[in-house]
Amino acid sequence: MQIQKNISIKQFNTFGVDVKANLFVELKNENFLNELFSSVNEIPNRFILGGGSNVLFTKDFNGIIIKNLLPGIEKIGEDNNFVFIKTGAGVNWHKLVKYSIKNNYWGIENLSLIPGTVGAAPIQNIGAYGQELKNVFHQLETFDLQNNQFKTFAKDECKFGYRDSIFKKEFKNRFLITSVTLKLSKKEDAILTYQPVKEEIDRLKINKPSISQISEIICNIRRSKLPDPNKLGNAGSFFKNPEITEKKYLELKKANNDIKGFKTENNKYKISAGWLIEKCGWKGKRVGDVSSFEKQALVLVNVGKATGKDILDFAESIKEIVKVKFGIELKEEINIV
Ligand code: FAD
Ligand code: EPU
Repeated sequence: MQIQKNISIKQFNTFGVDVKANLFVELKNENFLNELFSSVNEIPNRFILGGGSNVLFTKDFNGIIIKNLLPGIEKIGEDNNFVFIKTGAGVNWHKLVKYSIKNNYWGIENLSLIPGTVGAAPIQNIGAYGQELKNVFHQLETFDLQNNQFKTFAKDECKFGYRDSIFKKEFKNRFLITSVTLKLSKKEDAILTYQPVKEEIDRLKINKPSISQISEIICNIRRSKLPDPNKLGNAGSFFKNPEITEKKYLELKKANNDIKGFKTENNKYKISAGWLIEKCGWKGKRVGDVSSFEKQALVLVNVGKATGKDILDFAESIKEIVKVKFGIELKEEINIV
């Protein structure tokens, strides 16, 4: 285990922001955790990095960045209906999706092609196309950076919410997730609730889509509207979709017939942040090297050499204009460092 000094982390974040970390280490084996954290005991500032696809670095990082590369996908149990798959936190998320598709284990095919690592998936309870991680989650294992000991979290303890968990709140930066165990279904369990997915299945005249057909459809939808971070720096949706009261929703609906909103479990309405940004005239707008993506206003992109501060300033302008026009406060989905 080699601790590198003063290195650029441009290649380790999908925004492609060029900042330096004064210490950087790659974690490939959990047996080194005790050794690593006793050796960096006096360094209070630590950041666990996966694929860097949900993070915005706004300045050089004064501390140690631990890049999680913990490997392994293993079936650790099963019954007639389910399998339990334990995966090292450093495994690429889509690699796990491909494994599940190959074995016909249902549950994460709708989460195809989400960038990043398995270990980061519970942090914001990743979700897409009618599915969320929490619905297939069993448990995760962590290393507690405060007490240098291992701790397991059951599903309830993670307090999953929409793009949220306990690891974004009171336990922010405290636990390093080492592995995640999912409970996947051996029986066909297609989730076809998301309108664009349904439409595509109808268009293709598929009667009963297979797990790989669903994954392929979702990959195609994603490719058609989200920028590839290898070509254009971005971190997916910059903001969460806001939840507003029914009263506020009906007011907005009266003035804007095309507004999209869905009733949530807590009787609120989740509306599209992309729509709000577009209505403010900011879809595709560019300031310096930052732009809102032309096909999806909620995705901010680095079109050249934008700094984290440039991206943050751009995001602040969007927040201000949405607040003025609609009286709605957008909240960041991504992690700002
Ligand atoms: P990072 O960006 O490296 O880290 C994110 C946060 O998790 C940081 O706070 C970090 O400290 C923490 N963290 C990472 N690993 C660990 C660990 N092992 N232990 C403890 N803390 C850790 N997200 C969705 O939910 N749905 C989508 O549809 C979606 N689409 C996207 C599309 C694009 C093009 C992009 C670029 C991003 C998209 N995202 C989406 C966001 C992103 O892919 C997810 O949030 C993903 O889970 C981030 O994984 P990562 O490994 O890159 O995390
Ligand atoms: N819309 C607009 N203008 C835009 C973008 C969207 O009007 O510029 C409207 C359209 O009406 C569209 C609707 O918003 O039908 C929904 O758009 P989309 O299907 O692209 O989804 P989203 O709500 O913008 C969310 C997630 C995505 C996830 C998709 C699919 C959040 C913050 N984002 O986006 O997750 O992939 O749904 O489930 O919840 C991410 O978290 O990084 C991410 C990409």
